[in-house]
Amino acid sequence: MVRLLLPFALCVVACGPPESVVEDVAPDPVAGASTYQQHCLRCHQENGTGQPATGPALAADFNASGGPLSRTDEELMRTIRLGRMGEIGAMPPWRGVLSTKQQRDVVAYLRQEFEPSSSVLTD
Ligand code: HEC
Repeated sequence: MVRLLLPFALCVVACGPPESVVEDVAPDPVAGASTYQQHCLRCHQENGTGQPATGPALAADFNASGGPLSRTDEELMRTIRLGRMGEIGAMPPWRGVLSTKQQRDVVAYLRQEFEPSSSVLTD
């Protein structure tokens, strides 16, 4: 048991916790864009509209007013982290695939790119 735990303990010390706290770093929509292209685009599409109703992988339309982006960052982060079994399909969970920072960046990108009345706060 100790033999199993030791490398893990060493890694936590050496690499920090897997989801480090980055609340003091501003999210980066540019980094978020590349995460989006790599992981999200195939379902949510270039323009964020999801797919026309042709298959099971139909995804939410980010551009719709009163749509997903009317939720808070916390709620969006939660969906991205844990996934979601929706009426129109399944959103895979990204916990363990994307770091917390990457998730925040991609939310910043969604807001910048698709928010119906976009008001991006930069500091
Ligand atoms: C396999 C296809 C697929 C991939 C890949 C995917 N999604 Fe989704 N996503 C969905 C589906 C389907 C829904 C709608 C679920 C529903 O019916 O509510 C959704 C919904 C969402 C929502 C809206 C949730 C809400 O509150 O209504 C957000 C935000 C989102 N996805 C973000 C992302 C991000 C960010 C990525 C990339 C890291 C991503 N998705 C990758 C299929 C996908």
